[in-house]
Amino acid sequence: MTDIRPAEERAAELAELAARVNVCTVCRLAETRTNVVFGSGNPDADVMFVGEGPGQQEDEQGLPFVGRSGQLLEQLLGEIGLTREDVYIGNVVKCRPPKNRDPRQDEIDACKSYLRTQLELIQPKVAVTLGNFASKLLLRTDTGITRLRGNAYEWWGRLLVPTYHPAAALRGSTRVLDEMRQDFRTIEAIIAGKLTRRPPQPAAEPEQPEPDPQQLDLFN
Ligand code: URA
Repeated sequence: MTDIRPAEERAAELAELAARVNVCTVCRLAETRTNVVFGSGNPDADVMFVGEGPGQQEDEQGLPFVGRSGQLLEQLLGEIGLTREDVYIGNVVKCRPPKNRDPRQDEIDACKSYLRTQLELIQPKVAVTLGNFASKLLLRTDTGITRLRGNAYEWWGRLLVPTYHPAAALRGSTRVLDEMRQDFRTIEAIIAGKLTRRPPQPAAEPEQPEPDPQQLDLFN
């Protein structure tokens, strides 16, 4: 449902939510975290990035994507004329899983209402999932990021653009970075209002599966 309140009211509620989440003890991750990483950026952003969960540096600083992955994210944002202050950056889980393991289902369940409320309050035009984990989870599909990316999906009343995690581009081939750049141009087109529906499938992958439209919702 669309929240029609002015941006200032939604931002104030987001700050109240952050204060509550910062003392959350609902799941076991509270026992091992240093800081909650609620999310940061423009509370009225057109673009909201969703990563998997905080790593060591994020846990230490209480901010998302502050390490090398964050630097690459900022570089890619810069290439489409944005800074991290223009967008909102969050994660599926707000506390670091020990040794950077994948978040477990009960941890995701404990955190998912926070992500849902962030999306409701920020109302981005486009959600961008970074990496396999967040992309598969939010699109509720087993299809991997290599096949998912390259498209914008209608999701929860907005478009969702899945792309690689910046860490994959840092350790992978230039192809990964090139494809991330393509995905960022899709984001740019959506913000500019040039893309409001899912684009045609790339000819190279005609059989590319789509997530079941009934299941496009992390939150049901
Ligand atoms: N990786 C993520 O998925 N999230 C962060 O905040 C940092 C690294």
